[in-house]
Amino acid sequence: MSDPRRNPDVPIEERSDGLLSRMTREEKVGQLNHLRLRRVPVSGLEDAAREGRCGAVTVPSGRAGHLNDLQRVAVEESRLGVPLLYGADVIHGHRTIFPIPLAQAASWDPEVVQKAAACAACEAAADGIRWTFTPMMDIARDPRWGRIAESFGEDPNLASRMAEAAVCGYQGEDLTAPDRILACAKHYAGYGAAEGGRDYNTAEITDNTLRNVYLEPFRAAVAAGVGSVMAAFQEIGGLPVHASRYMLTEILKQEWGFDGFVISDAFAVEELISHGVAADRREAAGLSFRAGVDNDLWAECFADFVGELVESGEVGEERLDDAVRRILRAKFRLGLFENPYTDAERYEQVVLCEEHRAAARRAAVRSMVLLNNDGRLLPLSRELSSLAVLGPMADDLHGLMGCWNLAGRAEDVVGLVDALREALPDANVRTSGAQTDVMQAHARRANVVLFALGENNCRSGENNCVTTLELPAGQMQMVESVAALGKPTVAVVFGGRPLALGRLEELCDAVLFAWHPGTEAGHAVVDVLLGEVNPGGKLPVTFPRSVGQVPIHYNCKRTGRANNPGAGIYLDSPTEPLHPFGYGLSYAAFEYTDLRVSEECIPPDGSVEVSVEVRNVGERSGEEVVQCYVRDCVASTARPERELKGFRRVRLDAGEAKRVHFTLGEDELAFYGADGARRVEPGRFFVWVGGDSRAVLQGEFTVE
Ligand code: BGC
Repeated sequence: MSDPRRNPDVPIEERSDGLLSRMTREEKVGQLNHLRLRRVPVSGLEDAAREGRCGAVTVPSGRAGHLNDLQRVAVEESRLGVPLLYGADVIHGHRTIFPIPLAQAASWDPEVVQKAAACAACEAAADGIRWTFTPMMDIARDPRWGRIAESFGEDPNLASRMAEAAVCGYQGEDLTAPDRILACAKHYAGYGAAEGGRDYNTAEITDNTLRNVYLEPFRAAVAAGVGSVMAAFQEIGGLPVHASRYMLTEILKQEWGFDGFVISDAFAVEELISHGVAADRREAAGLSFRAGVDNDLWAECFADFVGELVESGEVGEERLDDAVRRILRAKFRLGLFENPYTDAERYEQVVLCEEHRAAARRAAVRSMVLLNNDGRLLPLSRELSSLAVLGPMADDLHGLMGCWNLAGRAEDVVGLVDALREALPDANVRTSGAQTDVMQAHARRANVVLFALGENNCRSGENNCVTTLELPAGQMQMVESVAALGKPTVAVVFGGRPLALGRLEELCDAVLFAWHPGTEAGHAVVDVLLGEVNPGGKLPVTFPRSVGQVPIHYNCKRTGRANNPGAGIYLDSPTEPLHPFGYGLSYAAFEYTDLRVSEECIPPDGSVEVSVEVRNVGERSGEEVVQCYVRDCVASTARPERELKGFRRVRLDAGEAKRVHFTLGEDELAFYGADGARRVEPGRFFVWVGGDSRAVLQGEFTVE
């Protein structure tokens, strides 16, 4: 333990300074370089590791043994023995796939997100991965954008709470623990505002909206101690984020005090050339490195040019030291110098273990949103003797995992038909291929028809954007033809984005939105259909009626004609969405009464307690997400109609009532004004509490 690099008792700053002082410029630049392991053998990478030309490697899954071999080269054969940092896109589970992040947000339960992250971290770490490129916390208001699936939805407050939970779940209290990994807040920032919902596209975001909306989850993640941040591909106001010193250095590192490191997105340093702000790779490297990117993902521009740029004085040596210190700090925090290798034996013990499967099932169940149950057909009776399960998602095991499932395997996934047969062993569960006449024949013989509809996993995620929110081709025709038989019908819709389901809801007695639930998909859906668990998920994003309403979100600013119900409408469609943000039904029903506000008047640094009584007026126990919204009535800049400022998921037995409390203080009431400063402004505030963003129970108070 005399070597301070490997002595955990020496403070991290001292260890990294000591190491830095011994590094040549080439070795420093090597730490900025992030390569990719795509295949084995890895001889090119071994040379890079041996010569200190690489600090981090993106890895495929299932390679712990190979990763140890490569690590051994870095640790034992390079001059200073700096271990490599292995990263991967472990987005919603590793081998045990959890619901997509948008679904997890629909649980409105940060514990679901934290647990999902912890299970993923445990499995990924056992696979040799010590860094994940997640959580993604881009605010997404446009369901055409395929990456909405990876987001926590449209609301800064909900996304911030989920982002904090994810960071905690991945990193834990102690990053040196063998089941914890470094998290990465991405994509900083504004990526979700891509014009036209097309991936990588320009985002026109004012500073006011950037600060009050898009940056909020990142600010929360930094406060929660996230170890790395990934820059966003797109540009804002003419400057790609990868070249924005304002975004990466002034706000992130200086204003927020972020002491982790910034990684570029894939090849994005080099892409500054395509953006048209750099003439060549050298210029791109200089722009991006000076702006604040520390780790160059795959483009090798830093490796090729940062040394030269420092030599020529175009970049200061202290900027190089700062970037390297940030990366070394992460490696020390992870305990990589003491424990660079992975115990490959652990993998088989932890993956798909009972605990992780149970957590995935619970997460999936808690994330499902009951959109419609007008016919009160759900929950289904266990006495059903026959059921027809129709539609493309009935047996699409791979599709149920959702986007990003690198280590996931279709054969691990529990499908809907198998889960139904397991739960209803005496019922005749018939399923069919795509032929409508066979479907009709099955439907005729069934007590209940269950449609399994929606999007395959390849229809959302990166670069999978669409111009229609209707169900994929053919699905509605199939539903129409079967619904004509007049049987009781339930639709379970899987998907990575809000879909325009108005017609489906008219045709079916019940519609359950199940997102992409992951490995335990079938079990979770059946738990909800049979009422084993009462659904309690709520929409983390507005569901429009049609793509023509997009972009649409509840927390829009008030217009000059906000008080005129005839103004700002569509002529050819209702203006209201199909389902508002925060919406979701239960097999129980909840009533809100007696909203109380503790103070009429508070100082700007004071707080007020808001409470409400929530009663379960249904016949079975259930969970309700109680939501608190605020409007700042008069402020120096226009403020949203209402903004979510607190939520609690509470369990209530039939007939039971609980008083649910929220505290509204500076954190909830402040906003960034025109001068870029965050403060609470005096004046009147309205507050609403209810079960979705249309909550009507209202109170008010004043800040003086
Ligand atoms: C995506 C990132 C991802 C990276 C590495 C990029 O194309 O935008 O979210 O982490 O690839 O796979």
